[in-house]
Amino acid sequence: MADGAGSLERARALLAAFAERDGSAGRVVAAVASDRGLGYRDAVDLQKFPETYLPALALLLDLDLLRPGAGRRVLHLGANHGVFCRFLQDDPGVSLALALDLSRRALRLGCSWGLRAAVQADAVAMAACRSGWADVVLAESLLVPGYWPAADLARCLDACARVLRPGGILIIQEWGFDPARVFAPELTDAGLREVRRVTTAALT
Ligand SMILES: C[S@@+](CC[C@H](N)C(=O)[O-])C[C@H]1O[C@@H](n2cnc3c(N)ncnc32)[C@H](O)[C@@H]1O
Repeated sequence: MADGAGSLERARALLAAFAERDGSAGRVVAAVASDRGLGYRDAVDLQKFPETYLPALALLLDLDLLRPGAGRRVLHLGANHGVFCRFLQDDPGVSLALALDLSRRALRLGCSWGLRAAVQADAVAMAACRSGWADVVLAESLLVPGYWPAADLARCLDACARVLRPGGILIIQEWGFDPARVFAPELTDAGLREVRRVTTAALT
């Protein structure tokens, strides 16, 4: 297992290299500029860049989940155009990186940029997802108090627990609050317990 600081630095370098190769920021700017039908909310939601996922990737490295050949199956909730799945889908430790979002427009954009696995679905229930298949579920800026009704947050955490294989990992990446504390009762009810945390400043 890698040390925390080493994982952060490795994650930072990997994401920066991908962003440069991919031209991620330019793609988003061009998409926003060229789509006259895009609403303000859609334009804000599109602002997802490889660096956004620095804490999540550092955690995956820290927990040694991306070992080459590990065949990990990752589900990203609220993935928008799925840039982190596009990064993960070519990782030698990943067999599936599935981007789930309500927005068909965002997923189509991601697919036009090379995203290989996408599903339009509601993360609250994940009715379309079978149980016990995911090694990792990632929720970034999705499990936010006030964003959904409290009952939906609890339903989503239950659905995450259902979709994860036994021993699977839910990564909650949030900004400016402590999800483990804020969602402690819901996490316990869903049968989930904290195993690791990464705290860092990163682009959001
Ligand atoms: C990550 S969330 C951003 C939430 C942000 N914290 C806010 O307050 O607006 C944005 C992404 O999640 C997606 N999303 C929102 N609700 C969703 C749901 N119930 N199921 C799946 N995706 C959802 C949106 O389409 C968008 O791509």
